[in-house]
Amino acid sequence: MRLSDEQLARYHRDGFLVFPELFSPGEVEAMKRELQRLEAIDTDHVVRERGSGSAKTLYRVHEADGPTASSPFRAAGQSPRLLEPAQQLLDDPDLYIYHTKCNRKAAIDGSIWQWHQDYGTWMHDGTPEPTLTTAMIMLDEASEANGCLYFIPGSHRLGLLDAELDDKTTSYKLWVLPKGRLIEIMEQSPEPVAITGKPGTVAFFHPTILHGSGHNMSRRDRWQIYYVYNRVANRPRDVANPRPDYVRSTNWTPLRVGSDDILAGQPALAG
Ligand code: SIN
Ligand code: MN
Repeated sequence: MRLSDEQLARYHRDGFLVFPELFSPGEVEAMKRELQRLEAIDTDHVVRERGSGSAKTLYRVHEADGPTASSPFRAAGQSPRLLEPAQQLLDDPDLYIYHTKCNRKAAIDGSIWQWHQDYGTWMHDGTPEPTLTTAMIMLDEASEANGCLYFIPGSHRLGLLDAELDDKTTSYKLWVLPKGRLIEIMEQSPEPVAITGKPGTVAFFHPTILHGSGHNMSRRDRWQIYYVYNRVANRPRDVANPRPDYVRSTNWTPLRVGSDDILAGQPALAG
């Protein structure tokens, strides 16, 4: 899928692009079936809510090996719909997947994500430059009521901002913006944009865009999957105590664009 010059310019201006229903209902259904299968697996690649034990994040669904390997998720990561735009956005044919994560925001009591920049964490992984891009696929309808993402348009152009490590209020340890600085930025920025849409909708976003998500007030869980693409040339340098491979991949083999038929070889869905 080729992005137009106008779309590229908009991404560089706003820090994100949204493509409604880029994946079909059948593809989304197959991916949700995969989530059900994967969340039952006992592995450190599946992070669970304290108390209920229900899965809140599934990692590393894009590789051919490992406990959470999944054929449709792997195929989607190499599909022309995700990989080609990522190559254009990063102006580089040689990309690899930094990580994948499937996030469930559980109905009523699922975790929130404070305002943050993703590169605030990835910088600590030893990743030299914020030349990454994330493709998020909505696997349920995302709405303001169920805790959709919000972006502050153009905030990626502020570069990396001073952050503090929050290990209390947000979903997991996250480098978040202090309140005073955040309000200052918001006063000088366009209003935050709610990233809502039907299942199958995709949003590409920049690693320094300020984003977060609130409570899920609805009665249904909300799943989204994130594919983070990095330039092979921008792979992390050595750091002391690197995070595990499922969040900071060391598979730096450049991806090649695959088939758009992400369900090839999958059992047909009933009905
Ligand atoms: C994130 O910002 O990395 C995840 C937010 C969410 O899934 O709501
Ligand atoms: Mn994030």
